[in-house]
Amino acid sequence: MNEISIALIPGDGIGPEVVTEGVKVLKAIEQLDANLSFLFTEFPWGCEYYLEHGKMMDEDGIERLADFDAIYLGAVGYPGVPDHISLWDLLLKIRKSFDQYVNLRPITLLNPTLTPLKDKGEKDIDMLVIRENSEGEYAGAGDWLFIGKPEEVVLQTGVFSRKGTERIIRYAYEEARHSKRSLTSISKGNALNYSMVFWDEVFEEVGKEYPDVDTYSYLVDAASLYFVTDPERFEVVVTSNLFGDIMTDLGAGITGGLGLATGANINPEREYPSMFEPVHGSAPTIAGKQIANPIAAIWSVSQMLEFFGEQEWANNVLTTIQHILLDPSTLTPDLGGNGTTKEVGDQVVEGLKKIVK
Ligand code: NAD
Ligand code: IPM
Ligand code: MN
Repeated sequence: MNEISIALIPGDGIGPEVVTEGVKVLKAIEQLDANLSFLFTEFPWGCEYYLEHGKMMDEDGIERLADFDAIYLGAVGYPGVPDHISLWDLLLKIRKSFDQYVNLRPITLLNPTLTPLKDKGEKDIDMLVIRENSEGEYAGAGDWLFIGKPEEVVLQTGVFSRKGTERIIRYAYEEARHSKRSLTSISKGNALNYSMVFWDEVFEEVGKEYPDVDTYSYLVDAASLYFVTDPERFEVVVTSNLFGDIMTDLGAGITGGLGLATGANINPEREYPSMFEPVHGSAPTIAGKQIANPIAAIWSVSQMLEFFGEQEWANNVLTTIQHILLDPSTLTPDLGGNGTTKEVGDQVVEGLKKIVK
């Protein structure tokens, strides 16, 4: 029996709406598979909690989350609480406390009608972006000096440790080797004369241990161009925290939008829980209307199942998503349909039942 305990953090805006659908899918799978069970515990943390209690999560929040196998998160951030507070005290705190240093973001076109790119199909857009998720430009190091004075200075320091850089690059080489795909590093050594020169060096150094892996290295500006003009160049991609954040929204743009983009925050050593979440945020302007696309959050469920060794269920969820994408009229408005969040979740459940029969 595979028993997985999951901490639910629906969070803000459309977060609760899409997490409800993901949980619905997990519960349906539990019904269909006698050897699989999920134990859910929900936490009320987020911006509303902050406005009531003055904090984004309880003081012992990290300690309590540590007992779970996985965390399933919706979105964090809402007008009324400064973004740098809400995100640093909840989402980023979890990623950092649990050393979830690998952020796995597949950029996979599931249906040719979803891409705005002319003449590109599923074969052209199928990559895995491996984003460094623990340090880099998101280290949180810096200072704010002489506030309000003419000599005011703000420093935001990128931190690229040997350990942090090596481990993400090595993870990416391993992934490329095992999946027999090429590996592309995205950096910016021409302008970032310390951090990215170091990154490029480590990419080369570690690469000596992987002579079987074909490698490419692009500057982030050129890589942005190629994502649009030649996405087929990319198979496995490794990049820094900030570049990975930006490039994966661009990736979402060429594969159907943020309503479809998923990301897993992985602690590969499994010393701590890993966290599964859609790439999108709380989308305040569409929150509470039941029009948010839950597919990204449901795809996160597929990533979670894969992480726990349930490859067949992971595939089933993705196949079902691919199947429902065939009829856009039943999908949410971002994909041109007039379906509701709940209806899309229901369709996935129905699809899974059919696969198993
Ligand atoms: P966003 O991802 O919330 O929204 C960007 C655009 O995509 C909006 O037009 C939105 O309506 C659309 N969109 C996003 N998800 C969608 C879905 N599931 N279905 C249909 N349309 C969808 O990004 P933003 O507007 O830049 O940020 C809003 C808030 O979310 C901010 O507070 C930001 O800090 C936060 N944020 C949180 C996360 C996270 O929790 N992981 C990620 C990004 C942004
Ligand atoms: C993401 C988000 C976060 C990030 C923000 C909300 C801190 O944009 O997961 O892509 O930049 O990591
Ligand atoms: Mn982002």
